[in-house]
Amino acid sequence: MEHLITILNGPNLNLLGQRQPEIYGYDTLDDVAKTCAGIADSLGLRSELLQSNHEGALIDMIQNARETSAGIIINPAALTHTSVALLDALHTFEGPVLEVHISNVHKRESFRHFSYVSLRADGVIAGFGVQGYAFAMQRMGVLLE
Ligand code: DQA
Repeated sequence: MEHLITILNGPNLNLLGQRQPEIYGYDTLDDVAKTCAGIADSLGLRSELLQSNHEGALIDMIQNARETSAGIIINPAALTHTSVALLDALHTFEGPVLEVHISNVHKRESFRHFSYVSLRADGVIAGFGVQGYAFAMQRMGVLLE
């Protein structure tokens, strides 16, 4: 069976394309989903892109991915900097975890410099715009070879 990659997105990323476009750009989350699905196809993988504004819902999605997915790409958005619960959930997942940030969080406010999720992530991509999701998909192709 083809490997499934779950691409999780946290709070406010449903507004991608409208939300602070000077920081996050004009592409929407649907655009990201389509790009990732195309890359998945070319790698012999499948992808599903999910988003929630709710921490508990994201935790449920990670727990579900334990049963369904070979790898997780996650942009936890603001929960990156606050959520021990997301970190704990990711620790229960056995496959590769890649963390993506559209903006370069290290160039921004100091509260964005620390990431709980980075304590589990196998790789971190920041500051490449939505292209970061595409890079993460390519990396999944290598990690799951
Ligand atoms: C973000 C960076 C976070 O600090 C912020 O809270 C977000 C998006 C990014 O993709 O650059 O919502 O994760």
